[in-house]
Amino acid sequence: MNTGNIAVVLGAQWGDEGKGKLVDALSKSHSVIVRAGGGANAGHTIYRQGQKYVFHLLPSGLIEPENIGIIGNGCVVHLPSLLHEIHELSEKGISVRNRIFLSTRAHLLFDFHQEIDSIQEERKGKECVGTTKRGIGPAYTDKVSRSGIRAGELVADFKTFAHRLREHAEEIKIQYGISIDIESLIVEYQDLAEEFSDIVRDTEEMLEQYQQEGKNILVEGAQGFMLDIDHGTYPFVTSSHTTVSGASQGTGIAPNRFTEIIGVAKAYVTRVGSGPLVSELLNETGETLRKIGHEYGATTGRPRRCGWIDVVALKKFVRVNGANVWNLTKLDVLADFDHIGVVVAYDLEGEHTQCIPADIGTLAKVKPVIQEFSGWKKDISKIRTFEDLPVEAKNFIEFLEKETGIPVKYIGVGMESEALIIRDVKKKDF
Ligand code: GDP
Ligand code: IMO
Ligand code: MG
Repeated sequence: MNTGNIAVVLGAQWGDEGKGKLVDALSKSHSVIVRAGGGANAGHTIYRQGQKYVFHLLPSGLIEPENIGIIGNGCVVHLPSLLHEIHELSEKGISVRNRIFLSTRAHLLFDFHQEIDSIQEERKGKECVGTTKRGIGPAYTDKVSRSGIRAGELVADFKTFAHRLREHAEEIKIQYGISIDIESLIVEYQDLAEEFSDIVRDTEEMLEQYQQEGKNILVEGAQGFMLDIDHGTYPFVTSSHTTVSGASQGTGIAPNRFTEIIGVAKAYVTRVGSGPLVSELLNETGETLRKIGHEYGATTGRPRRCGWIDVVALKKFVRVNGANVWNLTKLDVLADFDHIGVVVAYDLEGEHTQCIPADIGTLAKVKPVIQEFSGWKKDISKIRTFEDLPVEAKNFIEFLEKETGIPVKYIGVGMESEALIIRDVKKKDF
């Protein structure tokens, strides 16, 4: 069987690494783009031909007019938000009619999940996670506790769906003491059932079919590895699996079908929300990174915390995800710095380690061990080949390759999707 390639794009840090841009750049050679997890907590920004697009629930590869977008079973989906996003995109001249599909097995996220998210954050006070308040945690909680409602139920039999929704909402009302206008909610979903009747499909079957047709598929990860519910800085994480296993689980594509696993890492790190960030720069350098890198959240507009790139975390990413190549993004942002830091080890009470402590209190005590590199002090945004990069930039990249054991195939040098260096790394040996 002549199956197509299946690439997986995964965030390797704390989200916002620039996954959307890479997905857009690869969307010319991949005609099916699949989201595997998360929901509208994601914000994937693309600049193409002067136009800005931000994707939240829709896969980012849909600017290409013939591409098919799939929202996989691992996602939690607020249908009104999805509809809003579809309309917004069509106002920009991009119609996704007949080319966007939602898994019957994806869980529905309702307004009350968003309300619960806010209540839980408020209750936690200073200890809050700093969620996007998009209802992600509460929706996955319902999924795991087996009380969630799936997209397939909405389109299969509305009477049964309405009954389930009524019962579930009644229980939520009691549990959280919130008021829900259940009858209006049911009326709203009756309209949505019609709207989504052709969109909700068995997407696992469709993906199998596309593979057999030889189509190239791209799985678009959301969030980042350090926000993974198991491997991230728990409890300051999201509620989904942001790993390669999540990419398989959340789409129904077997892991041995993945032909390229791409880790997306910024040339420095950022984080929105609470939780430890070992290399955080709470000084002028951090401010400069935020300013030059325009580091403000695409979903919530919050300022992103900034720090030097963390090789300890990147090594864990490669180990757990079996990544083949890197996309190093935003290298252009480092152009103005005399020196660039790289976190090469963690210092825990005087001992150097390559392990990331699971205990959040212990992790908070970790100090970064930083190796300094000379900056290049040159605009690199017009460069399109590795060879043309300044020697200092090459040294920085080659150090990251040596430390992590995998090559940097894609290098981001600007916001626009075309501002990308693509290297032939086949012959590279580590
Ligand atoms: P995502 O969530 O991983 O898709 O990333 P976001 O879109 O939330 O944040 C990444 C930001 O960096 C966006 O505003 C992108 O336009 C921008 N970006 C991505 N790659 C590059 C790059 O190589 N250089 C510059 N200057 N900006 C980039
Ligand atoms: P993309 O796909 C950056 C963070 C939130 C918070 C934690 C939990 O654009 O990279 P949640 O709303 O998921 O319960 O919040 O996770 N977070 C992200 N940070 N990029 C994202 O997505 C994120 N999605 C969630 O800020 O710290
Ligand atoms: Mg983002």
